[in-house]
This record gives sequence, structure tokens and C-alpha cells, in this order.
Amino acid sequence: MKKILVINGPNLNLLGEREPGVYGSSNIEELSRNIKERAEALSMECDFFQSNHEGAIIDRLHEARKEYSGVILNAGAYTHYSYAIRDAISAIKIPVIEVHISNVHAREEFRSNSVIAPVCSGTIAGFGFMSYYLAVQALAEM
Ligand code: DQA
Repeated sequence: MKKILVINGPNLNLLGEREPGVYGSSNIEELSRNIKERAEALSMECDFFQSNHEGAIIDRLHEARKEYSGVILNAGAYTHYSYAIRDAISAIKIPVIEVHISNVHAREEFRSNSVIAPVCSGTIAGFGFMSYYLAVQALAEM
């Protein structure tokens, strides 16, 4: 069975509480449950990891290369400036899909730039939690 990993970066542990007008009122457990359901419907196993720390995200990406066929990554604000996470994505051979809950292009200017986008397989942003579900579907077909 295909195995995929969902990595959520900084501040995404506060989903449901954090700026609900932007990120919605459901929490990360609900998000994970819904992703898992969709992955299983497509015959894939799915694991989850959340961290507020850059190095922990990098370590998890390195480990993932041996165990998973793909990664869904919401790197939070690291998206916009972490060359270290970008290099970690480049270093592993499995596909990484960049996701964002909000439409990063319709917000502050600094959010329009993603330093990880060029090394990801693709980017899905602006569809709320559905951004993750669409990424699950993409990994199922890749
Ligand atoms: C986010 C967008 C980022 O700009 C922000 O820093 C986040 C969440 C999103 O999912 O919309 O933490 O990645």
C-alpha cells in the first residue's frame, strides 16, 4: 500500500483558534481525520507530523525519503524564507506537494513568494482544507 506523509509547520497546531477568518474554525485533528479518510478511500496509508521548528521539519523530510512515496507539506511561514527546508526537499527524491489553506497571493506581499515552490512537484493554495484533499488525490495519481 502506498504511504504518504502530511507535514504541517509552524502555528498550524493552533488551527481552529488562529485567525479563523483566514484558516477556518476546524482544528488540526479534524483536518488529519478528513485527510486520512480521503487517503484510505484511495488505498493509501497516511501519517502526520506537525512542528513549529525548522530543524524538526528538515529531519522528518529526510526520514520520509525511506518510508513514503510522497509528502504533503504546509511549511507555514517557513515557505517564504527557509532555504534550509528548500534544500531538504531538493535532497530527497520523493515528490513533495506544497499546500496552503489560504490564498497566499491575495494576502500580504511577502506571502506571494515561496522559496520552496521551485523544488516542489506542485503547489495548491487557497482552497481551505480542500487544498490538502486535492494534494492527496494528486499523490494517488502520481
Ligand atoms: C499558510 C500561509 C502562510 O503564509 C502562513 O504563514 C501560514 C499558513 C496557509 O496554509 O495558508 O502559517 O501556509
